[in-house]
Parts: sequence; structure tokens; C-alpha cells
Amino acid sequence: MHEVMKIEGGHLLEGEVTISGAKNATVALIPAAVLANGPVTIVGIPQIADVKALADILRILKVEVIEVADDHIIIDPTKMENVDLDDDIVTKLRASYYFMGALLGKYGYVRMKMPGGCYLGPRPIDLHLKGFEALGAKVTYDKACYTIQAKKLKGAKIFLDIASVGATINIMMASVYAEGRTTIENAAKEPEIIDIATLLNKMGARIRGAGTNVITIDGVKSLSGCFHEIIPDRIEAGTFIVIAAAMAKRMVINNIIPQHLDALLSKLKEMGVNMEVGIDRVVIERSESLKSVDITTRPYPGFATDLQQPLTALLTQANGEGRVTETIYIERFKHCIELNKMGADIDLIPAGAIINGPTPLYGTKVSATDLRCGAAMIVAGLMAEGVTEIDNVYHIDRGYSEIDRKLSMLGAKIWRENVD
Ligand code: EPU
Repeated sequence: MHEVMKIEGGHLLEGEVTISGAKNATVALIPAAVLANGPVTIVGIPQIADVKALADILRILKVEVIEVADDHIIIDPTKMENVDLDDDIVTKLRASYYFMGALLGKYGYVRMKMPGGCYLGPRPIDLHLKGFEALGAKVTYDKACYTIQAKKLKGAKIFLDIASVGATINIMMASVYAEGRTTIENAAKEPEIIDIATLLNKMGARIRGAGTNVITIDGVKSLSGCFHEIIPDRIEAGTFIVIAAAMAKRMVINNIIPQHLDALLSKLKEMGVNMEVGIDRVVIERSESLKSVDITTRPYPGFATDLQQPLTALLTQANGEGRVTETIYIERFKHCIELNKMGADIDLIPAGAIINGPTPLYGTKVSATDLRCGAAMIVAGLMAEGVTEIDNVYHIDRGYSEIDRKLSMLGAKIWRENVD
């Protein structure tokens, strides 16, 4: 027996939804908290499986984790021990690699398994490791584990060949206690990076320039506990915006930072979606007819690769030919194969897809091959005639907080079943 998600499509949605704290910030904030020497309180924690996995890793490290309320966690690393992370739990998610930077930064030593996460084509971590080496660490790999150690971490100038989100955050964490100044050039500029730098600065770190492509970190001797509220999840917000564009009679999406969604909102405007953007919310009504657009994924502030998949599902209902080009993960197109099973007309080309619309979609059995493919299947399932059955739901649960409840409140017919 295994769990599937079922959606009966064709029902218009109406009402309000509130976006949760950002997954891709949370999964770095939790490891970053261990750099403190006192309790760190984080508010706005999304209810996702990745958080549970990270809390389990914290417990292995003898860090006290107190879940005060659904979205409120206290992490107390006072009695922490730098235990080897060779447990399989590390391979469940990609973000476990943030313990590399955090533990190296705090203890000058870390041993852990290779991180896991969604398969989106090869996802190397060479830039993280080169960054650690530039700070004076030695990296070795044996028995499926990395060992990273340094007698002393010293600030350095690090140029990233690619503006990697993970490498930027990991190097920030590894260098907060390093002697002297670290400069990260060609740093990633995603909003989540600013959120991590804000947490570290509240603890007492001296990080400047987060959100630009040059970040400087001046090493400090000690960091203390603090209170932090996570920024809203721009990818969850974008997913609901796409769902609203597809199926909303009228939907109000609360707790968003519209500026974080500029690339998506401008594409939807081009498609002909009716939107009213406020300070921290957006109101959307679906239009009878949508126009196709082309998108190319880019690092922030460009079009997010994580929203490429849900938007592709919407493009199947737009008039004309839409072209999607990936520059971040060139193999991130498994959702197109699933969409074609539902009636879409999508041709795959190298690092891209051509969507010919509109074509009616029909409910059938599909798979959430990765997290955002799962989001694309939900968008398609809501639009399709009949019942869509989505397999591998655990991918969706890794990143979307209470998605069934939020959609049900809006009038969607969505439920789970155990099937053979
Ligand atoms: N890259 C390297 N070497 C490295 C690191 C990255 O070649 O050492 C390449 C990657 O293969 C990719 C590009 O650089 O082609 C960008 O990767 P990046 O490091 O920025 O991605 P990430 O940190 O692994 C995060 C998010 C992803 C999101 C990407 C891009 C987290 C936990 N994950 O991944 O989110 O797609 O940034 O914005 O923050 C998701 O939420 O579904 C998801 C996959």
C-alpha cells in the first residue's frame, strides 16, 4: 500500500489563503541556528517534511529542539556535540549540506554523508567545497562521507564560478567565526540569502552586502541566541498565484512580498491574468482566455526555476506556442512527460520545452517525480476533467505546508488514499 493524492478537477476556487514561511530559507536557518551559543527562536516555520528531517539531525547533534506551536521552534545548541552525521537521514534532503558550513564554522570539523534531495539532473557541491578549502579547510571523501576539517579558518576572497544559492549560504556560515574578512564575489542574490544573513547578524555576526553579488563577512568571536521571523515563501506564493490564474473565481493570496515575485507577475500580466497587487497580498481572477509566453529561468531576480514547472502546467491552457528554457537545471522537465499523459502537447528540446496550447487535460495517474513537478501536477489536476491520481506525494510534502487543507478551504476537491 502507498499513499496517493487525488484531485477532482474542474471546480472553480474562491476565498483567501495565507502563505507560509519560506522553505528554502527555513532549511538553512535551522542549521545556522547551531552557530549560536544560546537558544534561537524561529517563527513562521512551514509544516513540511524537510523541517522534521532537520530537527531529527539536530537531535542527533544533541541540540534541544522545542516545537512550541505549529510554526514556532526554539533551537538550543547549548549542550551540542559534534557527532558524525553518517545517518541515512542526511540523504533524505538536499539542505542537510548546510550542516557542513555550520559545523565547520563552529568546530573546524565536520563528517557527514552526501546530501540527497530532488533529482533535477546532476547537482554537484564543488563550489561549496572549494569555498571551504579557500577558508583553509581540507576536504576528503571516503565511505560515502565527506570529512572537512581545518586547524584554523581564515577569511579569504572567494569568487563563485556560478552564483550558487547553497554555496553562498554555506560559505557565509563557515566564515562567521573565521579570522579576518571573507569576501564572496558573484554571490547569489536570492531573498533567502538575505534572510540567513539577517539571522546571523542578529546573533552578532558581521555580514554586509547580502542581496547583492558581493558579500563580506568579518569574523567574530562569539554568537548569541536571538529571535527571528522567516520571510514568506515566494515559491509557494507563486504556486498559488498560478493556481489562481488557472482556476480562481476570485482568490486573495496573503503574506507575500510582491517584489520577490516580479518576474512571475510580469509574465502573468503578459498572459492576460487579472491581478490586483497590494502591499503584502495579491487578488487574482482567472481570465477566460490566456496568451502563451516564453520564459527563461535565471538566478534571482530572474524567473525562478522552481516556478517554471507549475507555470508550464498553466501554459498548456494558453493560446499559442510557449517556450520554456532552463539555464539552472537543464534536465528539470520530467513534469512535461507527466503533463503529456494528461493531454498536454509538449515537445522536449535540449534544455527546454515547447508547449502548444490550449489542449484539454484529463485526469489520469501521474507521478510527482520531484517537489515542483508535484506542484505542476496539482495545477494540472485542478484544471483537468475527471480525477487525477498523483503518486510519490512525499515529494510534495517535503516542501508545501498543508497544501491539501489550503486548497480544500478554497473549494478544491482534493484528498489522499492508500492504494496498492
Ligand atoms: N552548482 C554547481 N556546483 C555547486 C553548486 C551549484 O555546479 O557547487 C550548479 C547547480 O548544479 C545548478 C546551479 O549551480 O545548475 C545553481 O544551483 P544552486 O546551488 O543555486 O542551487 P541549490 O542551492 O542546490 C537552491 C534551492 C532549489 C532551487 C535552486 C535555484 C534550496 C534547499 N534549494 O538549490 O530549490 O531550485 O536553489 O534557485 O534552497 C526547490 O525548492 O524545489 C529547489 C530545488
